[in-house]
Amino acid sequence: MSMTLREEVRRALIDYKNGSLKYEQLPELCATRTPKVPIVDPESPEVLKETDPTYMDSAASAPLLLPPKLFAETLEAKYRSNYGRSYGYSEKIIRRSLHQTRAEALAYFGGVPQDHIVVLGSNTTNLTLIFYQHVLARDSDPHILISRLSHSAASMPLRKLARETWEYIPLSSCFSLDLDGLEKRLKELRRNGSKEITLVGETTSNVTGYETEWREMISLAERYGCRVLLDNAQGGPFIEIRLKDYSADVFVVISGHKMGARDGSGVLVGPYSLFEREVPLQPTAGMILHYTEDREYFLLPPLAQEYGTPNYIAQASLAESFKVFSTVGLSRMKEGLRKRTLQLLGHLEGTDRVKVLGCAQHSHPRYGSISFVVHGEDGREVSSPAVAAALAYFHGVQLRSNHLCAPVYIQALKGIDNERANQIAESSFRLALGQDVEANFQELQRLDVADIDICSLWVVRPSVGFGTTEAAVDRFGSALRQVIQKKEYTRLTQVPMGATAQALRGGSSFTLEHVPSGLPPHLISRLVEPEVPEFEI
Ligand SMILES: Cc1ncc(COP(=O)(O)O)c(C=O)c1O
Repeated sequence: MSMTLREEVRRALIDYKNGSLKYEQLPELCATRTPKVPIVDPESPEVLKETDPTYMDSAASAPLLLPPKLFAETLEAKYRSNYGRSYGYSEKIIRRSLHQTRAEALAYFGGVPQDHIVVLGSNTTNLTLIFYQHVLARDSDPHILISRLSHSAASMPLRKLARETWEYIPLSSCFSLDLDGLEKRLKELRRNGSKEITLVGETTSNVTGYETEWREMISLAERYGCRVLLDNAQGGPFIEIRLKDYSADVFVVISGHKMGARDGSGVLVGPYSLFEREVPLQPTAGMILHYTEDREYFLLPPLAQEYGTPNYIAQASLAESFKVFSTVGLSRMKEGLRKRTLQLLGHLEGTDRVKVLGCAQHSHPRYGSISFVVHGEDGREVSSPAVAAALAYFHGVQLRSNHLCAPVYIQALKGIDNERANQIAESSFRLALGQDVEANFQELQRLDVADIDICSLWVVRPSVGFGTTEAAVDRFGSALRQVIQKKEYTRLTQVPMGATAQALRGGSSFTLEHVPSGLPPHLISRLVEPEVPEFEI
């Protein structure tokens, strides 16, 4: 063990090993420590300053946790070897490490070895695709109902199917799953003779942070004989799922990079029966026992779902994430995250001209992500990416601002009907391509979004996670107040994204990025397009 670990970090690692780790110690266990980042003063952008970074983007990727990192480094430094059927000590270590991840995942999601399978993959997107491929191959008359809160990882693959094959689950007045509406639809589908119904929903929204009614959705699935896919990308560190308790076929999918593991890891856990087929759906390397000139002898699932050399170090590291969160206890993980989320919500609701998206009448439990928009003194919406850019360039805050891969949900939250959303998107797209500039600009003016065009369909999203400290949330709150009170979002100018890199290739103005107005050219490469750091010796 390194001698340079701070005492609190060493203590947290020891507590983890002893099984007494607390939620409050998790920021100490985070291995990602970003040094000071450059910022400028909106009034005088010609002088570069430095500040502590404020990371409010945990819903996108959480910081790397030390136990997965140290475990990955041990494997890399001592036992790096391909994984397969070699003879040799290192290969056995890697193989057993991957087995450990499967065993931990199974226990974490309450599965049982004889019924459930753990497919290892690189992220939620990749594993959700594998799930859909199997559903569509197995079901002769598939029908998929998907949450309107869904992320594109779950929704996009369905959109190229005929609309009769899939539909949205209605949204409740609280902007979550409308269970009555879902039940009504399930009754109709059953009455019409639909045989194979799959429900797809997320445990936690990456937009509002709502924990959805995923348990009730499973109960409906049990009653109406459906299969369920739970996108647990956001809920991985704290949602307790007990697969063996459900009589419906329930699948759960997560991404390791949102759980403090190395990038490139994820699991899909669910009933084995979905994968029971004679041949893999995508025959390729890594899944073959043997083949002759004319016949193939494939390995069994889950190996038949895992292609080529896996990201084995990352996937092995994921076992440690499951252990860390289990050691803290998932109910304590949930409690800790809720506290931090309420702190964030308090800052947002206490800031004038901020509108938090979600149900204004009832409070719905939120975890991690909160989306908002800002209104100027004239009541018009301020471009969300401009708010995000002001936070980044003037305060060193990182958060997300766009459609969050859930534009259909954001449309509903912002009360924008589909026709209007299409008009805004279409005109913005044409404008960006330089087509019919005058006509499209007039159309955007008519829609009253000319100055922020497509951004009127977007939001700002700060998110907190197990690595977020109380101090970071307070820093964010005070930065946001300054951005709004001093109208720092007006101290920006728009330039084509990747301006310097693209200029070399002829450039495109398709996406514009906000940068501080008056920033001297020599600071662009320091602030806007920083040099990639070299490794230190
Ligand atoms: C709810 C939800 N589902 C799926 C994903 C996709 O995850 P990944 O990019 O790791 O595949 C995300 C990522 O943000 C998410 O928030």
